[in-house]
Amino acid sequence: KRVVLAYSGGLDTSVILKWLQTTYGCEVVTFTADLGQGEELEPARKKAELLGIKPEHIFIEDVREEFVSDYVFPMFRANALYEGLYLLGTSIARPLIAKKQIEIARKVGGDAVSHGATGKGNDQVRFELSYYALEPEIKIIAPWREWDLRSREQLIAFAESHQIPIAKDKRGEAPFSVDANLLHSSSEGKVLEDPAVEAPEFVYQRTIAPEDAPDRPAYITVGFEKGDAVSIDGEALSPASLLTRLNALGKENGIGRLDLVENRFVGMKSRGVYETPGGTILLKAHRGIESITLDRGAAHLKDEIMPRYAELIYNGFWFSPEREMLQALIDKSQEMVTGDVRLKLYKGNVEVVGRSSPYSLYNQDLVTFEEGAVAYDHRDAAGFIKLNALRLRTLGSRARKIGG
Ligand code: ARG
Ligand code: SIN
Repeated sequence: KRVVLAYSGGLDTSVILKWLQTTYGCEVVTFTADLGQGEELEPARKKAELLGIKPEHIFIEDVREEFVSDYVFPMFRANALYEGLYLLGTSIARPLIAKKQIEIARKVGGDAVSHGATGKGNDQVRFELSYYALEPEIKIIAPWREWDLRSREQLIAFAESHQIPIAKDKRGEAPFSVDANLLHSSSEGKVLEDPAVEAPEFVYQRTIAPEDAPDRPAYITVGFEKGDAVSIDGEALSPASLLTRLNALGKENGIGRLDLVENRFVGMKSRGVYETPGGTILLKAHRGIESITLDRGAAHLKDEIMPRYAELIYNGFWFSPEREMLQALIDKSQEMVTGDVRLKLYKGNVEVVGRSSPYSLYNQDLVTFEEGAVAYDHRDAAGFIKLNALRLRTLGSRARKIGG
């Protein structure tokens, strides 16, 4: 058996690596992705070597550009939010990691894949639905659902008995669980478990507190082409460098914090703290450019399907026909979503203060309060209102008749 493990180099996935070797007698192949989580990857290579992985079986890849251009940006074209608030930072990264694992499995002749998600969460579902969609006969090993290591102490005891090095700061109980990438950091569990209690400030890792942000606003201009952000203040940037830049601006201005109780796909409610500084700016900016370039019918239809699209991503159905169908609709809507949005960033807030586009549908002549519009005749409005009122008047007279 040869298994491709999504390996971070941390304690949990190192224990999984050893456990796969000892319990299954597997040959383990590791995949470590740079998704912009802000961690060095070379230590993961060292550690994998130390744990007996052959150099040709250690795969480390910088996938930041692919992550942003093929996953984050398509999702942002939809203005996707789960349950009205969550920008899906963890959800959108899982399909990419799964896809890479399957590609590696094909390359090295692997027959199984493995991940470090627990048996209680969404991530196991996202990983595994993606694996199955891409490789229907793949074997999946989910150690957290199989082994009897139940506590941090047991994990550490296992690590010690198998000569797995443990970083000093990892010996104690971690105060909460973190998942991070270029789009967001998510923190869950432990000190965050009681939703009645405010999250302590030390939970936040990629934004300063709004109250500590500068007393002067920062202004930026984000340029869009066909629905994707392509520049900041006139400087063309690749998708990953653009999001990195927005993250820095968001961080400094305390933008993108979210404390949320959400409904997991597996049925329970969970409380999470999210930081999505760049993404929060990007969402506002994208809605800003859409506001002048999208027709009302197109915009409202997009907004109707958005919750459905977001739920598909949250639940792990990125590689599904229905997600792809909705994506085609969303992408089609973005053909004219090109232009500039000026934003004001101030103490945790981001506001659109200006928008312009060569394809703008905004017609000052039509909307102006001054006299002069050509295509609009005030007198047409009277009939428009009367016909729309017909039903309401009929209902109203019935109500009067029966109700007295
Ligand atoms: N609740 C979020 C989601 O389902 C984040 C899950 C991962 N977070 C974590 N701290 N391990 O997308
Ligand atoms: C996990 O269970 O591994 C993290 C939380 C989640 O997937 O929802």
